[in-house]
Amino acid sequence: MNETSYRHRVAIIGSGSGSNARALCVHAQETEALYSVELIVTNKPNAGIVGVAGEFGIPVIVCVEQSTFDSDICSALDARRIEIVLLAGFMRHVSDAIIAHVGGNILNIHPSLLPRHGGHGMYGIHVHRAVLASGDNVTGATVHIVTSEYDQGRIIDREMIVLHGNDTAEHLQDRVKLIEHTLYPRAVDKFCRENSRSSLTVKTDVKSSF
Ligand code: GRF
Repeated sequence: MNETSYRHRVAIIGSGSGSNARALCVHAQETEALYSVELIVTNKPNAGIVGVAGEFGIPVIVCVEQSTFDSDICSALDARRIEIVLLAGFMRHVSDAIIAHVGGNILNIHPSLLPRHGGHGMYGIHVHRAVLASGDNVTGATVHIVTSEYDQGRIIDREMIVLHGNDTAEHLQDRVKLIEHTLYPRAVDKFCRENSRSSLTVKTDVKSSF
């Protein structure tokens, strides 16, 4: 297997309907994909993303216990030898401990053109309302590296749409989600290409810090 055909082992973490998780899983089935989805993690037992895991036969873990949340996730990532974590509608703050555990290889998708309309409290419909209130002519979605600061990490890729005169926040949410479904898999492939197999740390002999 040569360097370009190596598939990075990814986990998807989310709390919502799972439409991005689904798009990521669909793309992973393509021969040219540079990643494989090895694990889905959620903090919501009834979230749509759990159904996505079932649909694609991917192991899923549900982490609801606050006190062991980080250690449960890190143990699951280690057990599946995960190299990259993909946040997809995860409605919890990701701790520095988790970020460090995967060597900073965590991506997120945000429903605006960062750095516009990012930061604490900017999620879901709030983002699209802010876009409309700002008078911006364009919006879109951004895939970026996750750091301890909300939506501040390096941008991997973005996709733009032009606002229509009659757009409501709900319309924008639907239209942005559509572009997210091609943007996210494309950005993950790009990240995999930028990070050769040898530059990502695969934990095979992990001594957990928990
Ligand atoms: C997406 O809009 C994404 O930008 C944001 O959370 C939403 C997740 O939606 N981070 P889904 O669960 O993937 O449908």
